[in-house]
Amino acid sequence: MKRLVLLLSVLLVACSNDNAPDVSSEAAAADARQTLQQAASTDGKALYVACAGCHGAQGEGNVALSSPSLANQQTWYLERQLLGFRSGLRGSHPEDGYGAQMQAIAKTLPDDNAVKAVVGYIATFKAKPAAKTLDGNIKRGADYYSNLCGSCHGPAAEGNELLQAPALAGVDDWYLLKQFNHFRDGVRGADESDRYGYQMGMMGKILPDDDIANDVIVYIQSLAD
Ligand code: HEC
Ligand code: HEC
Repeated sequence: MKRLVLLLSVLLVACSNDNAPDVSSEAAAADARQTLQQAASTDGKALYVACAGCHGAQGEGNVALSSPSLANQQTWYLERQLLGFRSGLRGSHPEDGYGAQMQAIAKTLPDDNAVKAVVGYIATFKAKPAAKTLDGNIKRGADYYSNLCGSCHGPAAEGNELLQAPALAGVDDWYLLKQFNHFRDGVRGADESDRYGYQMGMMGKILPDDDIANDVIVYIQSLAD
């Protein structure tokens, strides 16, 4: 019994850690906000200094800080997400600790011009191979992907600006799975005024179980090869 209690409390800590930023990422966030308070809103490169501590000097991402790669993502999507963080549409759910952290940083960007300038600088980064940390049944993932996801995200998960559905191929797999689960659980996209997030929120409930969600992400990663 004692063992079970111990196991349960370890699991609880593990779960809460997933959503609560640790000391090192809180320190990086404080540094970033300080840097942003001093940067000019037109200088994308100077603004990006504040982002590099978590997302990497070339937008390569950092799994230890739960920070996704930005280098492979489309600029219209990056811009819309930053504006969503700024307005509070994203990162406001009480269980979205990392989203809240990113929201505070986005709000410290001096103004909306600064959003454009920093995304313009990110667009100069070379694409990088996405992190592959998951294994699964690619064939089963492919079937579910083509039936349920491809109509919006594109047959090669290349994204579709008209539908505002981002590229998924080339984005770190751990991040895709985490975001998918956040949509499923209403941690992201639960607010109806978050037009595109809400659409994806409904899709988060469409896959029957965790194993299949895992397989779909593994398939998406295979498309970036
Ligand atoms: C303290 C670490 C930290 C710093 C500094 C930081 N970010 Fe983030 N960022 C994150 C985390 C963590 C996430 C993932 C949030 C989530 O899980 O929803 C994120 C998410 C994002 C996203 C959404 C990507 C997507 O595909 O959904 C964008 C865009 C972004 N950050 C841009 C920036 C920019 C631009 C800066 C600099 C002005 C910056 N970030 C600074 C930690 C950071
Ligand atoms: C009706 C169109 C639509 C369908 C179908 C759809 N999505 Fe999405 N998806 C979106 C939109 C729009 C967004 C952007 C949401 C936002 O702006 O917050 C998105 C975002 C995502 C993200 C977050 C990416 C990131 O970098 O933050 C993931 C992961 C995702 N979708 C996976 C899937 C999977 C897996 C399926 C199939 C089960 C699927 N989607 C089906 C429209 C769709």
